[in-house]
Amino acid sequence: MGRASRLMRLDAFTKTVEDARIRTSSGGIVTIFSVLVVLFLVIGEWNDYRKVTVISELVVDKARGEQMEIHLNLTFPKIPCELLSLDVMDVSGDLQPSVSHGVAKHRMDKFGTIIESKFMDIHPEHPKHLDPNYCGECYGAIAPDTSTKAGCCQTCDDVREAYASKGWAFGDGTGVHQCEEEGYKEKIKEQAEEGCRIDGHLWVNKVVGNFHIAPGKSFSNAQMHVHDLQNYLQSEVAHDFTHTVNNLAFGPPLPTDLLHERHHQQNPLDGISKKTSDRNYNYLYFLKIVSTSYEHLDGGYTINTHQYSVTSHERSLEGGKDEVHPGTVHARGGIPGVFFSYDISPMKVVNREVRMKSFSGFLTGVCAIIGGTLTVAAALDRGLYEGARRLGKAHQR
Ligand SMILES: *[C@@H]1O[C@H](CO)[C@@H](O)[C@H](O)[C@H]1NC(C)=O
Repeated sequence: MGRASRLMRLDAFTKTVEDARIRTSSGGIVTIFSVLVVLFLVIGEWNDYRKVTVISELVVDKARGEQMEIHLNLTFPKIPCELLSLDVMDVSGDLQPSVSHGVAKHRMDKFGTIIESKFMDIHPEHPKHLDPNYCGECYGAIAPDTSTKAGCCQTCDDVREAYASKGWAFGDGTGVHQCEEEGYKEKIKEQAEEGCRIDGHLWVNKVVGNFHIAPGKSFSNAQMHVHDLQNYLQSEVAHDFTHTVNNLAFGPPLPTDLLHERHHQQNPLDGISKKTSDRNYNYLYFLKIVSTSYEHLDGGYTINTHQYSVTSHERSLEGGKDEVHPGTVHARGGIPGVFFSYDISPMKVVNREVRMKSFSGFLTGVCAIIGGTLTVAAALDRGLYEGARRLGKAHQR
């Protein structure tokens, strides 16, 4: 009686003697079948284990003093770039008239082919005809800070800027020496049939605000924001604010490899086109912006971006004829253009990727599958064997 026999007494798995075992062909079939079933179930279990689920939570957005990036890409087939300006305003009082940083204007011909692209902040090249002592007149207006020579209006653009800051209509530059030199009037004429695409990105404070694309240089002070509409309204070629929103997004786009099905973020304005043939037509979009973050499972990085919902309104300003006099600068409220007004939601959506099943859960599942399948298979095999034996006996009789 050695150690082995003592261990034997502990054996819970008593074995039947080999001789009493019989192999049957029905048993073989049951075996193959149960192996297939086990494989099938284990694969299902594995997929379940690997599955990433996105859990969304709504929390109060506690971030403060943040900035927000606006990506815009708009096409205006019926207005030349020269006549368009983009202004951004927010309630904090930050005003960025005729915005520049990172936004480009692309001149397009009638067929939509790009002729020339220019970042909006690049100043027009200095006319070569100027001698170093030249100091252009500002025609009673005050020279802009952007002028290359303090107190002087060196270029047609400087004079236009100076006029805008006084709130004066500028027109086509007839009688303004700098503009006649540069052929400003001809340039406007030549571009009359062109369209314009404005694209790029800009940073704004994350507070209620608006941005708009409207004709003419703009000027703002505490009480008003005005645009010089003269060239737009008096052009021989009819202009209007027919437009296409190619893209309007707030915050960084998500890398495409991260776009898990449920993550797919769509900007509701992308691809929207609006048509009009009315010069005095005004489009308003009201956006509600919701901060959204994505916490990625592997690598643990988080992307902070925004989603939005939109409602829109459009109207003709014809009824308000008294407000829109061709040839004058006039106040806000009734100018043709495309206006985006945005509001920030106090709630934030947090999307988190998680695995619902742990690895030990997966192993438990696999054991249950194997054990369960074998038990059922054994019962089935026994049943088949008994059945066959009885049939055999009946046959012999
Ligand atoms: C703007 O949209 C046009 C048309 O879809 C596209 O060709 C162009 O590359 C876009 N611009 C930017 C900066 O994404």
